[in-house]
Parts: sequence; structure tokens; C-alpha cells
Amino acid sequence: MLWVKDLVTHFPVDVAIERGTQESAQDGRSRTGGIDGVSFEVEQGEMFTLLGPSGCGKTTALRSIAGLERPNSGSVRLRDQVLFDSQLGINIPVNRRGISMVFQSYAIWPHMTVFKNVAFPLEVLPRKQRPSAAVIKDRVEQILETVGLLSYVSQSATRLSGGQQQRLALARALVTEPPVILLDEPLSNLDAKLRESMRLELKRLQRETGVTAIYVTHDQGEALSLSSRIAIMSAGKIVQLGTPREIYGSPSTQYVADFLGGANFLDGTVAGGLGDEVRVDTGIGVIHASGQPSREKGSRVVVCLRPEHIRISTSIPAERPVNCFNGKLVATAFLGDRIDHVVRTGECELRVRSEASVRIRRADDVFVWAQPSDVIILDR
Ligand SMILES: Nc1ncnc2c1ncn2[C@@H]1O[C@H](COP(=O)(O)OP(=O)(O)OP(=O)(O)O)[C@@H](O)[C@H]1O
Ligand SMILES: [Mg+2]
Repeated sequence: MLWVKDLVTHFPVDVAIERGTQESAQDGRSRTGGIDGVSFEVEQGEMFTLLGPSGCGKTTALRSIAGLERPNSGSVRLRDQVLFDSQLGINIPVNRRGISMVFQSYAIWPHMTVFKNVAFPLEVLPRKQRPSAAVIKDRVEQILETVGLLSYVSQSATRLSGGQQQRLALARALVTEPPVILLDEPLSNLDAKLRESMRLELKRLQRETGVTAIYVTHDQGEALSLSSRIAIMSAGKIVQLGTPREIYGSPSTQYVADFLGGANFLDGTVAGGLGDEVRVDTGIGVIHASGQPSREKGSRVVVCLRPEHIRISTSIPAERPVNCFNGKLVATAFLGDRIDHVVRTGECELRVRSEASVRIRRADDVFVWAQPSDVIILDR
């Protein structure tokens, strides 16, 4: 329902220098932040997430879709309406795009009541589109009920807690029933515990209202738990796009694997293969991978092992499996529901994650192993 095509938004060099964000391009010309050819399509009812580190262009992408930035080139289309097209010279102003946005600092209006905060976007609609006072009251009360704030309706907005203010900001963004809602790190101002419960709230709210959402975050846990699809960004570009499972299971680069979930990376050289199995020589020995695209013997690759895909034990597994190595346990961290171990094997240290019930003392000799189907091979 929303198409973003080849969107480029650069900032004037002088502004960028002031902000210290000017970068030197390889061709020697100066280039400034923003986004650099971003394309994706969001389907009706999706929660589509842009995920990437600080400064990669997430906010710029959202602001360009909302009409708060004027892109240098590309196009944005919502259903059958072109919102922006550099070639056609179309640029619909922000207030006529019908898109709501919730910002990182959710900026509720402190001098207004809870009711008024939510009613305001309806009250300022042009006369022809504005609902009657009775309809406004109904709609506001309904959305306040959805976000669990109906009992606060006549209170001053400043008397709400952080989480409640966040829900109020969402109610305000949803009350106009926009086709698309843009959410820019809406939970980042909340403490860790509240953030986790608000995540579930937000997902429920999005499902119940059926609103299509584009969500921006640099928090991988948030992205994995909330999104129907994720676009991973780096330096103004999308580097991989897919469902959380697809990206987690088959990251296309080391950057993506590291950003989404974290992993152990071992440099290696392909030693051979049979069928869909590949054997890779690494610093800790030969590692077998299955179900991976075939690679030529001798190609230089990176073996990627997720910590939770590595098993650990003090005794050698009964039928010594492939990809089994012995090492020494050098560190452990108890994390409540799981334990992180650091195992030194050969010249490498591997991070291994196990259930909390596993008990191994430091300095014990241990065996670690991984199934070939869990091994990911990436180009170097
Ligand atoms: N108005 C502006 N003028 C100049 N440069 C800008 C402007 N807005 C953003 N930038 C630069 O563009 C790049 C992308 O910024 P953006 O705010 O989109 O990043 P982000 O991914 O949202 O980061 P964060 O996670 O920190 O919010 C950065 O290098 C930033 O400094
Ligand atoms: Mg941002």
C-alpha cells in the first residue's frame, strides 16, 4: 500500500559541517548523511521496521515519507496517490498526506487534558472533514479505551506516567484513523522494564486497529519481537530486507549477522564439499555446514556461529558429532534464564549460550559442538 522508490535525501553541506556529519566520498566529493537510494514496499496492516545503528538514516527516511524533508530524488506513493515524485515534480505537503507520526520525544501537550490531547488533531481538521463534537467525543473515548487510558480522560496530561504519556501519544496519532502511522523510536524514553511491556501493548494495538505502521528503532530485540518485516540499514542504505526469521537465520553479511543477534565469526577457507555440505578450514579446525549456497574450493569465507546454536558439555558427546571441539571455559555470566559462556579453543574465543540449568565450573575442560545446519557461511 506504500511504495518508497530510490529515495535520496541529502543535507546541504554547510548544515552537515555544522553538525559534524560531513563524510568524504571515495570520488573525493563531499557527501552528507541522510539516505542514499532507499526502496521498499509496505503491505496493508504490516508492522514494517527500519533497524540500524545511530546515524544510518532511519529518521531521515521517515521524515522524507511524512513530507517533513524534501528528498533530492525518488518517489513515495500511498495506495493510488503519489505523495512525492522528483521526476513528476510532485510534493504533497505534510498536512495533506494523511500520515501520522509519533516521535522519540512523544511531546504530549502539557497544558491540555488527556481528552483534549487526543481530540485536538480532529478539532483542527478543515471544516468539511471535521466530525461533529459528538462524533469526536465518541472517537476519543473509544481510542482512549483501546490504549487503557479512558479513566484518565479529564485529567491533566502531565499527571500521567511515562508509559501512559507514550500511550497517549499513540492514541493521538491513531485518532484520525490514518492509513499509515510512522513511529520513530517511540519507546526509547522509557525504562527497560516498561519498554518491554509497551512492546507487547504496541503490537496488540497495531493488530487491533489494523493500522499499517513503519517503525524505527536501533534496538534489535524490539525489531525482532514487533515486526512483520525488517529492513536493516547501514550508512543511508538498506542492506537486507526480510522477516525477522529470514534475516536472523540467513543474514547476508557479517554486518547484518552481528547487528541482529550477534554471533561468533571465524575466518576460513572452503576445503571442499559434497551435495549441500561445505567443509571450511578455520583456526579451530574443520567446520561442516549444510544447506548453504555452494562455494568454490579455496574461496575465503567467514563462518558464523550463533551463541545459542553451540552446545556445551564437560564430557564428550556419545557419538562424537562433527563440528565438535574441546576447549577451556574462561568466563561465564548468569543471566537468569540462560548462561553465557566464553570458551577458548585454539586461538579463538567462542561465545556459547546455554540454558540456566547447565552447570560448568570455570577452567573445566569442555566440549563445544554445533549442527552443520546451524552453521552460516558468509563471503569475506
Ligand atoms: N537536518 C540535518 N542536517 C544535516 N545532517 C543531518 C540532518 N538530519 C540528519 N542528518 C545526518 O544524516 C544522517 C542520518 O541521520 P538520521 O537522523 O536519519 O539517523 P538515525 O538513523 O535516525 O539515527 P538515530 O538512531 O541516532 O536517531 C546522520 O549523519 C545525521 O547527522
Ligand atoms: Mg533517529
